[in-house]
Amino acid sequence: MSTVWVELGEGRYPVHLEETLGGLPAALGRAVEGRRAVLITEPRVEGLWGARVTALLAEAGWTLDKVLLPEGEAAKSVDAWWEGVGGLLAAGVDRQTAVIALGGGALGDAAGLIAATALRGLRWVQLPTTLLAMVDASVGGKTAINHPRGKNLVGAFHQPAMVFAATEVLATLPEVQRASGLAEVVKVALMLDAGLLAAVEARAGALRRGEPAALRGVVARAVALKAGIVARDPTERGVRTVLNAGHTVGHAVESISGMPHGQAVGIGLLAELRWAERAGLCTATGLSDRLEALLLALGLPVSLPPLTAKALFEGMLMDKKRSADTICLPVPTQAGEAALVRVTVSELSEFVGGLG
Ligand code: GLY
Repeated sequence: MSTVWVELGEGRYPVHLEETLGGLPAALGRAVEGRRAVLITEPRVEGLWGARVTALLAEAGWTLDKVLLPEGEAAKSVDAWWEGVGGLLAAGVDRQTAVIALGGGALGDAAGLIAATALRGLRWVQLPTTLLAMVDASVGGKTAINHPRGKNLVGAFHQPAMVFAATEVLATLPEVQRASGLAEVVKVALMLDAGLLAAVEARAGALRRGEPAALRGVVARAVALKAGIVARDPTERGVRTVLNAGHTVGHAVESISGMPHGQAVGIGLLAELRWAERAGLCTATGLSDRLEALLLALGLPVSLPPLTAKALFEGMLMDKKRSADTICLPVPTQAGEAALVRVTVSELSEFVGGLG
């Protein structure tokens, strides 16, 4: 269908956007040497897509081992990481072996860290099976597991050799996960592309229902935006911070409430935008009301779960963008335009706590 390149010089890699998984073996053969791989996945995804991926690769002459991680955030524990590395070693991997991560954002984060650390780094590719993973997590090489003190606090940048996003897999995605991915699309649109924001508004009903043509359009645009940002700032020293919009509040909400990632990010986007408006940083009249209407149209929550300002404060202290008591917060200044601003953790947590 189409290919977007993440332009990282020698490490440049393709993000293939396809309707089906059929082209996977040919794309994989171009991306990595040899014909040996270990598939890292989790039980639910394995039940849906494991047999298809295995058969496609076996037919093309690949030797494939498999490592199963637990489902969801449980894959991002130190025990799961250790077991995963052990699984690769038990399979006899060498530096020519590729790791294939088949799953959603949590699985990709965890499998990526396993690939980054086993034998000090194996080549890996991502086969995202959720909308969130397609439009955000699978592109850009962020790998991580969680620490009891916060999400994604242990990890590495380890860019994949390829991302292969087949939109057919979205057909089996539960509605709540589709909405979670749409929140990340809204994020990138709000911060970087007013045209995409308007397109998501215009097609909100079709996107919420998961109509394939509507999804393909926004996936392609969101991936192109993300690829462009990652190419400019692969290790998040500057402009890539924009992609963390909504995550300062969102990660705190997610950690405390256990809400799905995208839903928490949507709430975070709205809360951070309301703060930016009150601080006079966003000059577009009514942008937060527009965002709230869009989140609701996409089936996303807009209200904070019951949280104290103190719990938010403690959650925000774990933000990787924090330096001493301030956070470098990306906020929209207009629809599709963003700036990085400094805010103290206490000011933001008190403001957001007051919204609940
Ligand atoms: N998910 C934000 C990023 O990849 O930078």
